Amino acid sequence: MKKTLIVMIGFLLPVMGFAAGGGASFPSDDITIDWDDKASMQRGARTFVNYCMSCHEASYSRYNRVGADLEIDDAQVSENLIFTTDKNGDKTKVGALMTNSMGADYASEAFGIIPPDLSLIARSRGVDWLYNYLRAFYVDESRPFGMNNGVFDKVGMPHVLADLQGYQVPKMAMKVDANGDQIEAIVGFDIVKPGALSKSEFDQTIYDLVGFLDYVSEPYRQTRQNVGTGVIIFLFLFLILAYFLKKEFWKDIN
Ligand code: HEC
Repeated sequence: MKKTLIVMIGFLLPVMGFAAGGGASFPSDDITIDWDDKASMQRGARTFVNYCMSCHEASYSRYNRVGADLEIDDAQVSENLIFTTDKNGDKTKVGALMTNSMGADYASEAFGIIPPDLSLIARSRGVDWLYNYLRAFYVDESRPFGMNNGVFDKVGMPHVLADLQGYQVPKMAMKVDANGDQIEAIVGFDIVKPGALSKSEFDQTIYDLVGFLDYVSEPYRQTRQNVGTGVIIFLFLFLILAYFLKKEFWKDIN
């Protein structure tokens, strides 16, 4: 037992060290998404359609499905979440996919890269990464948009939430990286031009937005968990039944 424990600790330590050291990216906060907090996800959906969908799509999701899952009725969905028009110039219908009309050619020309579809981004990058990335834009005059990112160096995305967050500059310090080398790294940010929100309000806005992206990446999770619980309860009840049945069958033999 003792030996097993030592082996386990020996195995875990480097893994933990790597996770904590993890290179030079800043910030590196962890979050846990509350899947039952529908109000938070509704706010996230609003931020997404207002600030992200001009460039990014969530092309696996339909507006009305999102509405049903997040408890927003169709009329509200149409009023609060849909700001695009279809190819006839009419307002996009609630049954439509969450796409935009930015062409790939235009995107490549404007940004040098096509903004990726965000349907599965919470699964490929993880919610912690997204939470940090979206709060890590900082002023860097050497970049084409005058901005860089503490989590995604030389990112091609502009600081689209600047009116909410404001503008920030990095605080630098020497730090030891994952390989034990001394490197100059970002250890904090100073706001140089405030936005409409305070830091905690902005953090909350990003938390809500990431929660929405997490939902979009796996809309069936809630259902799956509920079904899972039901199955476990059924199996447990069946176990009790089987136990008494066994007792009944064997009582004359023993
Ligand atoms: C003006 C266009 C534009 C808007 C608006 C925009 N983005 Fe982006 N975004 C981009 C571009 C371009 C990239 C690709 C950057 C790169 O790879 O260098 C990108 C990249 C990303 C990535 C990284 C994808 C990856 O893993 O490589 C995420 C996540 C992201 N955007 C999320 C968002 C969110 C959330 C919003 C809304 C708050 C948003 N974006 C708004 C243009 C935009």
